[in-house]
Amino acid sequence: MKFFVDTAEVSEIRALAEAGLVDGVTTNPSLIAKSGRKMAEVIAEICAITPGPVSAEVTATDFETMLVEGRYLRGIAANVAVKVPLTEAGLRTCRALANEGTPVNVTLCFSAAQALLAAKAGAAFISPFVGRLDDISTDGMGLIADIVQIYRNYPHLKTEVLVASVRHPMHLVQAAKMGAHVATLPPAVIRQLLKHPLTDSGLSAFLADWKKTGQSIL
Ligand code: E4P
Repeated sequence: MKFFVDTAEVSEIRALAEAGLVDGVTTNPSLIAKSGRKMAEVIAEICAITPGPVSAEVTATDFETMLVEGRYLRGIAANVAVKVPLTEAGLRTCRALANEGTPVNVTLCFSAAQALLAAKAGAAFISPFVGRLDDISTDGMGLIADIVQIYRNYPHLKTEVLVASVRHPMHLVQAAKMGAHVATLPPAVIRQLLKHPLTDSGLSAFLADWKKTGQSIL
């Protein structure tokens, strides 16, 4: 399973990349706003330290302008994936960019039917938002199960399921069990994945016993 980092904070991406935990990055207009930086500048910087795709989202809502924005964003770096919303104009843009060889991440997906449309429009990634569905008492992970099953039924569909709006470690574990291709994780969730109280207590005990020996390795 690929791990994308869901942030526009370059220092966070760099630290996680050094641990080999970054296969790609996703951003959205809210994350760019939170960074307080110019979009083109921050996307270029993220692309330079990320081995895989970096999603940069269009902000127009009409097909013509989305296409121009998508081409501009793709021109920033070879590993930009253009993100478009799951609207009719977004799907037209997806098909046009995909025909040009640009990978497209179709975002704001909240139903299996939408995911099927995105795949038909040539999306490289579909981003179902599990946390936002859970927020309205709807089963976010159930949507992932449905999409994974539907895509498996039609192997000619090459779209990867990119689990988005991940809020806690169980979203990630369940998505991996279902066979989703990618999860995009906020840095805080990646750090939560690391944590286990038995790791902490085990390490403390090892270090206490080691201290009693009076030895040092170096
Ligand atoms: C990533 O591609 C999405 O934009 C992001 O995961 C949304 O997360 P949120 O629902 O926590 O804002």
